Amino acid sequence: MSWERWDAVDRYTAGLLVGEDAALEEALNASTEAGLPAIAVSSNQGKMLHLLIQIHGASRILELGTLGGYSTIWMARALPPDGRLLTLELDPAYAALAEQSIAGAGLSELVEIRVGPALDSLLALRDEGIELFDLIFIDADKKSTPEYFEQALELCRPGGVILVDNVVRDGAVVDPDTEDPGVQGMRRFLEMAAVEPRVSATTIQTVGSKGYDGFVLALLDS
Ligand code: SAH
Ligand code: DHB
Ligand code: MG
Repeated sequence: MSWERWDAVDRYTAGLLVGEDAALEEALNASTEAGLPAIAVSSNQGKMLHLLIQIHGASRILELGTLGGYSTIWMARALPPDGRLLTLELDPAYAALAEQSIAGAGLSELVEIRVGPALDSLLALRDEGIELFDLIFIDADKKSTPEYFEQALELCRPGGVILVDNVVRDGAVVDPDTEDPGVQGMRRFLEMAAVEPRVSATTIQTVGSKGYDGFVLALLDS
């Protein structure tokens, strides 16, 4: 099986079921033009995030890693009118671009971007005593995923959902001797989740236009 085939299936199925519109396409085009890396979730994955939020009835969402706002738009569109999405981004230029695309999608009222290292923002949110989130999507730098997961456990409500993207990395995650700090981070995260009594979790491998990767879906005890 080749990447070409995975990509063709993503395009065929997304063309039938996903319904990507001008605002989402524009978010990707603006990111490409500005030279951002092409590492947003695929449209099929964006729609999955959107559906999960609807299934869960989530109205408060936290995202780590905004990039150009593509996943942000997919998720914010699943919110009820009084819902809120807070997204954390290190790079001020990425955040500025995302803000424009989010405005283009008509979602500025629902979305707030905080610029800075995600770990600093997470600690600040805890200090501020922010209301807990219904769903947290961890998709920033991969090496820090264990620290992000640790904070997410404290910022997520009982019965809430934590999703972690890019766990599989072409299957590299099974290599205990990997020298890739991102893969090491994912292995540490999985080992943490394995012994974390507050969560029930599973890993789903994916292929598609973004290659071979996968995500972890975790449910906190209620
Ligand atoms: N969620 C996006 C993709 C995010 S890519 C989507 O699917 O559309 C990962 C993002 O994490 C990049 O924008 C990168 O700048 C950001 N990032 C990297 N290190 C970070 C850090 N320490 N804190 C916050 N964001 C970080
Ligand atoms: C990378 C980051 C992502 O969020 C992603 O979906 C794919 C790749 C990366 O940093 O390489
Ligand atoms: Mg990702």
